Amino acid sequence: MTIRFVTSNAGKVEEAREYLTDEVEQINYDYTEIQSDDLGEIAVAGAKEAYEGTDSDEPVLVDDAGLFVEALGGFPGPYSSYVEDTVGVERVWKLAEREENRRAYFRCVVAYYDGETAETFDGSVPGRMVAPRGEGGFGYDPIFEHEGQTLAEMSTEQKNAISHRGRALAKFADWLAERGE
Ligand code: IMP
Repeated sequence: MTIRFVTSNAGKVEEAREYLTDEVEQINYDYTEIQSDDLGEIAVAGAKEAYEGTDSDEPVLVDDAGLFVEALGGFPGPYSSYVEDTVGVERVWKLAEREENRRAYFRCVVAYYDGETAETFDGSVPGRMVAPRGEGGFGYDPIFEHEGQTLAEMSTEQKNAISHRGRALAKFADWLAERGE
């Protein structure tokens, strides 16, 4: 079986290949990101749309992730991408800086759809908001610290080993293995 990972991010595909024994193919398909508070709902809607909109009947995988800042009621959460493009990472830190409670987490939901059933797998990583540090990674990595290091200070291997996406992909890989596929 080939799993079609719907993403424009080649790094995510590389990461998925580390967990899955099946072939993982990258497909670029611009699905509609529905508006919802629930990452799982967004990912499932995207997976179904991508499956219906393409010719192949191989299953698809879509992931949706976000940063949830506790003191800000989970903001930016499902809107992380939009907020990164509009407000920017530095100003998200400025908002968090005013709060006593700096706890936050990244969460990722991976949705799998094979034309009949949709399954979701989630993973999260706890941390705290800090002033930007580090040159690696992407997005909110420089302002998110986990066990003393920001994600932008970690090597790709270090980050993948603890990341929300890695944890979700590991659950997905276990589920596939149990199904015997
Ligand atoms: P996506 O769903 O993976 O495209 O991510 C949505 C938003 O969350 C984007 O603004 C990303 O920059 C941000 N994001 C997702 N995963 C990470 C991560 O591992 N580090 C930093 N930012 C992330």
